Amino acid sequence: MRFVHLTDTHLNAPGKEGQFPNSKHYEKVRQTIRHIRETKVDPAFVLVTGDLSHGGDEEDYVFIRSLFDEASEQLGVPVYVVLGNHDHLSAFRQGYLGEAPSEDPYYYVQNINGLRLIGLNSQIPNQPGGRIDEVQLAWLEQQLLTPAPKGTIVALHHPLFSLGGFTAKGLLVENRDEVARVVAGTDVIGMFAGHIHSNLFGTYQGIFHVAAAGTAFTAELGEGKEHFQFIDICGYNIVTVSEEGIVVQSIDLPRSRAEYMRIPSTRMI
Ligand SMILES: [Fe+2]
Ligand SMILES: [Fe+2]
Repeated sequence: MRFVHLTDTHLNAPGKEGQFPNSKHYEKVRQTIRHIRETKVDPAFVLVTGDLSHGGDEEDYVFIRSLFDEASEQLGVPVYVVLGNHDHLSAFRQGYLGEAPSEDPYYYVQNINGLRLIGLNSQIPNQPGGRIDEVQLAWLEQQLLTPAPKGTIVALHHPLFSLGGFTAKGLLVENRDEVARVVAGTDVIGMFAGHIHSNLFGTYQGIFHVAAAGTAFTAELGEGKEHFQFIDICGYNIVTVSEEGIVVQSIDLPRSRAEYMRIPSTRMI
């Protein structure tokens, strides 16, 4: 079974790009979907691990939903999402889910042909950093008591591991040890995150972990690690799950690689 992992689309409705004028991040989602179709990736589903919007309001989420519905229709598979620090729960519930506004965390479990997908909400309101709250941790522990036929994938926005030992506040899940304790020894075969806008693959306390590059832009640590450069890129990962294990292939699509902006590395993406 294959699935596609996108992250950090940082979308706004056309004309409302604000911090990223003329960036047209929505075109990168379309470029990605076109590439998935043309190269016949044939995924079972698409996973988007947060920062769907860049500070989105209800109108932005209506647009994001229409764009993701378009992707879903073209690929013939569902699109599952989790939320990041640049997302707003109430606006997401109204514009994306068509529900009443609510700040209730958005997390869920899905069974896809025997593979279990658990989406967590690692947002901390009005903060860039991440945390899995006690209610979700208890819920996760309960879910994982019963193994799934093809194992479990956990999706969340903030990663558990650091970028080359770089652990500025706001980068990681702050209670990552608690999360790892709940996940260790279960049927979880991988955890998939975004947030750091850089393709990292590895393990955290023995758990296979991916923090994918952004679909909208990458954040590269400049010399001396004093600033992040936001670079125009577009890419996605193809994840293959089989009895042999799990394989992640990174796809880098042609873009200008122009620098959008740079920020001090003490601030968060
Ligand atoms: Fe992001
Ligand atoms: Fe983020």
